[in-house]
Amino acid sequence: MPTVLITGANRGLGLEFVSQYLAEGWEVIACVRQPSAALSGLQAHGPLTIHQLDLVDPAALAELAASLGDRPLDVLLNNAGTMGRGSFAEEGLTPFRFGTSDAGEWAEVFHLNVFVPMKLAELLVDNVAASEWRRIVTLTSMLGSMELNTLGGLYAYRASKAAVNAMMRSMAIDLGPKGIIAAPIHPGWVKTGLGGDNAPLEAPEAVAGVRSVIASLTPENAGRVLSYAGEAMPW
Ligand SMILES: NC(=O)c1ccc[n+]([C@@H]2O[C@H](COP(=O)([O-])OP(=O)(O)OC[C@H]3O[C@@H](n4cnc5c(N)ncnc54)[C@H](OP(=O)(O)O)[C@@H]3O)[C@@H](O)[C@H]2O)c1
Repeated sequence: MPTVLITGANRGLGLEFVSQYLAEGWEVIACVRQPSAALSGLQAHGPLTIHQLDLVDPAALAELAASLGDRPLDVLLNNAGTMGRGSFAEEGLTPFRFGTSDAGEWAEVFHLNVFVPMKLAELLVDNVAASEWRRIVTLTSMLGSMELNTLGGLYAYRASKAAVNAMMRSMAIDLGPKGIIAAPIHPGWVKTGLGGDNAPLEAPEAVAGVRSVIASLTPENAGRVLSYAGEAMPW
């Protein structure tokens, strides 16, 4: 069966990805800072390996790659992400308005949302190239779209997801010759810790949609921003 590596797999969308891929018989490698009871419980449901690591620790990423050796990875799924120090779920746009920027916060958001997916792709590219599916996906957001930005605010998060789109576009071009399809996918606005309770989508529906888009990626739509419903999104 194919293998997927999922970051940020202890809760939210990441946990749901683990659950759905296991249910389909995939081998799942879950990367987490701290395994949750819900994630550990899924070990009874199929071949789940839990790697405990802090993604923003470069040495831990290198150790992860070394521990995988030349194991083929069908899908590298960069899911872990953060909006920053405020809570969009509880406070809406307020903590992310003009006049609140903080260098440390921007560095944290960009490190996790942009640099970690970049470095993981570089470390694991041979594992992906050795697989059957050969997909690298990073979760982006409609909040990273210039055209769809009518509300302002959310500076660091929006900028980081726009950077994710640019990064995945380059990756699609550079890794295409290896047969790898790289793409940024927007999961929709989903009820999670990050999305909050007002979100219209539940995680199972969003994740089923993203998985279906991952399965239907082609060299032609590599590097495009796609939604969980498979629609091309504006830059
Ligand atoms: N929910 C939405 O509406 C929505 C919309 C568009 C895009 N997305 C994207 O979808 C992805 C998953 O979001 P979600 O809604 O599932 O968010 P979530 O419920 O807040 O979960 C975020 C995940 O990222 C991990 N994470 C956060 N900071 C980390 C760090 N410094 N190092 C390692 N892991 C860290 C968390 O682990 P800990 O438990 O250890 O903190 C958690 O597993 C993100 O990339 C997000 O930007 C979500």
